[in-house]
Amino acid sequence: MEIFVDSADLEEIKKAKEYGICSGVTTNPSLIKQAVIRMKGDGKNVSMEDYINMICKTIGKNGSVSLEVISLDAKGMVKEAGHLYEKFNPVADNVAIKIPVSTSRHEKEDHYEGLKAISVLDEKGIPVNATLIMTPEQALLAAKSGAKYVSPFAGRIDDWIRKNLGMKFGKSDYFPAEGTKNDKGEIVHDEGVVSGVDLVRKILEVFGKYGIQTKVIAASLRNYRQVREVAELGVHIATIPFNVIEEMIKHPKTFEGVVKFSEDVIPEYSGLFK
Ligand code: E4P
Repeated sequence: MEIFVDSADLEEIKKAKEYGICSGVTTNPSLIKQAVIRMKGDGKNVSMEDYINMICKTIGKNGSVSLEVISLDAKGMVKEAGHLYEKFNPVADNVAIKIPVSTSRHEKEDHYEGLKAISVLDEKGIPVNATLIMTPEQALLAAKSGAKYVSPFAGRIDDWIRKNLGMKFGKSDYFPAEGTKNDKGEIVHDEGVVSGVDLVRKILEVFGKYGIQTKVIAASLRNYRQVREVAELGVHIATIPFNVIEEMIKHPKTFEGVVKFSEDVIPEYSGLFK
């Protein structure tokens, strides 16, 4: 499983690279907004173009940097995708364009602009990361249209199921992969999907059955147990927020072990290093 950093924060991206764990980055307009607010708070003023250049350079060749479009119509998305790709792919040949699988905001809008854009970009040879995937069907359609990656939003599906259950929850709270029961003792689900991890599982199963080459990026991961569970499924890529990467390394028994080993160092042994 590859690890991407789900962040547009250059400092976080640099740290993840330094740890040797990260082969990519996924951004979205909200993550770019957060990174810019933080940068301005630190008194730094870098142009958006220079900033994205630095992200692409930090990730380097053989990696992947997802940059998202902002238009909601296919023509606009294709134009913006071309613009982003021409501007930033030459830096390290690692850009993928994030296109929402559907850009409709309500029932009456055209639901297929995302797919139309993905299909045109595939013909042009521009790699697409189809985003905002909430069902296995959307993943299948995006893959058929030519997406190189699909990003199922595990955390947001957990949010949706918990909200429908009337549960109170924090953004990073764990939600069981096998789902949870309502007052009547029935497992609550979203059209058969019982959790965000279950969504990832179902997509992997469908893709596996037909040998679909599109890579699955487990996205919207909010805690380390979700990361473990998508890893157990054999997902191709997990895009992980930096705070979750930080959680993943910690365990009280590891702390305790370090303390004990340090205490037990005898002079004969430390002498080896002098
Ligand atoms: C990454 O591709 C997604 O944009 C991101 O994981 C969304 O995460 P969120 O649901 O925590 O905002």
